[in-house]
Amino acid sequence: MTTHKIAVIAGDGIGPEVIAEGIKVLNAAAEKDGSFRFEFTQFPWGCEYYKETGRMMPENGIDILKDFDAIFLGAVGAPGVPDHISLWDLLLIIRKKFDQYINLRPVKLLKGAPCPLKDVKPEDIDMIFVRENTEGEYAGSGSWLYKDKPNEVVIQNGVFSRAGCERVIRYAYELARSKKKTLTSISKGNALNYSMVFWDQIFSEVGKEYPDVETHSYLVDAASMFMVKDPKRFEVVVTSNLFGDILTDLGAAIAGGMGLAAGANLDPERRFPSMFEPIHGSAPDIAGKGMADPLATVWSASQMLDFFGHEELGKELIDIIEEILVEEKVLTPDLGGDATTVMVGDEVVRKLGKSK
Ligand code: NAD
Ligand code: IPM
Ligand code: MN
Repeated sequence: MTTHKIAVIAGDGIGPEVIAEGIKVLNAAAEKDGSFRFEFTQFPWGCEYYKETGRMMPENGIDILKDFDAIFLGAVGAPGVPDHISLWDLLLIIRKKFDQYINLRPVKLLKGAPCPLKDVKPEDIDMIFVRENTEGEYAGSGSWLYKDKPNEVVIQNGVFSRAGCERVIRYAYELARSKKKTLTSISKGNALNYSMVFWDQIFSEVGKEYPDVETHSYLVDAASMFMVKDPKRFEVVVTSNLFGDILTDLGAAIAGGMGLAAGANLDPERRFPSMFEPIHGSAPDIAGKGMADPLATVWSASQMLDFFGHEELGKELIDIIEEILVEEKVLTPDLGGDATTVMVGDEVVRKLGKSK
């Protein structure tokens, strides 16, 4: 029997609450299938670990993780630890060191999910964001000159390499081709006169190899407006690290909320483990109350199943999420219900057991 070895970093705040449900669901999916199993290894890394040891993970953390088939991450960040430390020393470093250069984030309005937009049907919001995930505005390049002096200056460089842009753009073209969908590039060449001009150039260069793929290009400001006013324009979307971060929270807002938004950090070449996580943070405002919505984590679990080649099960999980939304019986407070995190996880497992 195949064993998928998963490193679990539940992390901070609601991270452990939602991850517990994700694990429950993945185990149930494996049991139902019968041809594979999961082996989960939990790592207690995160902000508590930092407060005890001065590090977010051990010095050899990356080395420890590299032998796993995938990483399942909850959320990182807690009051008392500066966010740029907690995120850089755990989440961002994993994305970079494992060259997880694709951040795949579905923005899909399931039936029954709340949508704040007027006159929008579920089929009008069905996008997949391909976010560059290792460089760009998140390259971590810069300096802080004359710190704490009256003349201090900070520089934060955006780093856009040809190889880095080409590979993410090519991945998006391939995805659009395989799904027979349009591809939209979102950039900002009118103001960012080096990085985004370069991005646009590569988008059009690579596009020459994909004459069958219909393309669109938007400036990020107009794209944000169109995501709200006319979301059905967008199918497969490719964009830079920072724009992708911001636009997928906007995407979450129009497709049911943070409690439903999932993401996969992929190394498509499978040299290193890929990482699956809800896109929300540690939500300190609701942590410890059993109120967190685990469905985003279940959705990312479905992405993990897809990645391991169990697409039917992955699809089944999405169908179950949709069923739960439509029935409106077992929902957490973010979706207007009064169920707990655990009750929602149990409901997913119950439905998995019932379906064929
Ligand atoms: P957040 O996503 O944690 O919360 C934003 C809002 O959404 C809050 O009101 C929260 O209650 C709600 N929310 C989020 N997830 C929810 C869920 N599953 N169910 C119900 N409601 C949910 O964003 P924030 O408040 O800006 O950040 C909090 C901390 O998390 C910060 O330290 C930040 O740096 C960190 N963060 C981490 C990640 C990550 O680990 N991937 C992502 C974003 C933010
Ligand atoms: C996300 C998060 C991270 C990001 C933060 C926590 C560094 O917001 O995964 O969307 O910006 O990528
Ligand atoms: Mn984000």
